[in-house]
Amino acid sequence: MQIISTIAELRKRLTTERAIAFVPTMGNLHEGHLNLMRLAREHGSCVVASIFVNPLQFGPSEDFDKYPRTLDADCAQLQDLADVVFAPSVNEMYPEKQTVFVEPPPIANELDGASRPGHFRGMATVVLKLLNIVQPQVALFGKKDYQQLHIIRQMVAQLNLPVRIIGGETVRAADGLALSSRNQYLSKTERGEAIFLYQTLQGMRQAMLQGARDIERLQKRAVEVLTARGWRAEYVAVRKQSDLQPASPMHRDLVILAAARLGNTRLLDNVEVCLAG
Ligand code: PAJ
Repeated sequence: MQIISTIAELRKRLTTERAIAFVPTMGNLHEGHLNLMRLAREHGSCVVASIFVNPLQFGPSEDFDKYPRTLDADCAQLQDLADVVFAPSVNEMYPEKQTVFVEPPPIANELDGASRPGHFRGMATVVLKLLNIVQPQVALFGKKDYQQLHIIRQMVAQLNLPVRIIGGETVRAADGLALSSRNQYLSKTERGEAIFLYQTLQGMRQAMLQGARDIERLQKRAVEVLTARGWRAEYVAVRKQSDLQPASPMHRDLVILAAARLGNTRLLDNVEVCLAG
C-alpha cells in the first residue's frame, strides 16, 4: 500500500489503472469505513482510499479543529485493504481560496442541511474534486449518511460524471449504535443512552410494518420521546427513498431519518422501511 499526499504523484501512480474503486473518507477509520474498502475490492482491481478532513463542509461553530485525526493508525488499518491512500493537506486541495462550488439540489437545505447550512455544498464540492483527481470507475459511500449518498447520486447523474456510485450498508456496534467517528465524543453514560436513537427508529419501522400510517404522528411522538429522555432532536422524518421528499401513506419504499444531540454530540441515523404493496 502506498501513501500519497500530492495530486501530481497520485495521478502518475494511477495512470495505468483501469478499474479503480474509490472510497473517500475523513479518516479516523472504523469498521464502517473498512467495510466500504472490502466492498470496493469487489468492484475494482485498484482500491484507492482518501483521508481528508474537508474544511469546506464544516460550519464555523462545528468540530473541524476537534475532528479526530489519526493518519498513522488509519494507514495501518488500510494496509491489507487499500492499494493507495491519498492523504492531501488542506493546501494541496485548496491552494487558492475555493470560489467555485457545486450547488447541491434543494433537498440539501432540508433535514441535515437545515441545521448545517452550506454543509452539503462543501461536501459535494470536495467529492467532485476528489472524483476528478482520482477518476475512479466506481466510488463507494455509506448509507449511514443517507442524504449525503442521495446528493452524490444526484450530482453524478445530473453532471454526467463517468463513475458508478455504490451504497454500502450501515455498520453498527453490537448494541445497534451506528459506527461514527463522532461516537468517541460521547461520555460513558451518553454512550449507553446513544442506542436509543436507533431503537426509536426501529420502533417507528415496526409500527409502520404493522400498519401505522399516521406519519406526522409517528414523527412527533419520536421527537417527544427523545426529548423526554434528554435528547435535543433536530428532526425525525419519514421520507421516500427515491428523492427524500416527504412520504404519504401511498408510498412504499421509505426511509426514516433522524439527527439528535446527546450532550454536545450530534448523532445521525436512518432505517429503510419497505411496506408491502
Ligand atoms: P466520513 O464521515 O469519514 O465517512 C466516509 C464514508 O464512510 C462515507 O461514505 C460514510 O457514509 C461512510 N460511513 C461512515 N460511517 C459508516 C457506518 N457506520 N457504516 C457504513 N458506512 C459508514 O462522509 C464523509 O466522511 C465525508 O462527507 C466525505 C464523503 C469523505 C467528503 O468529505
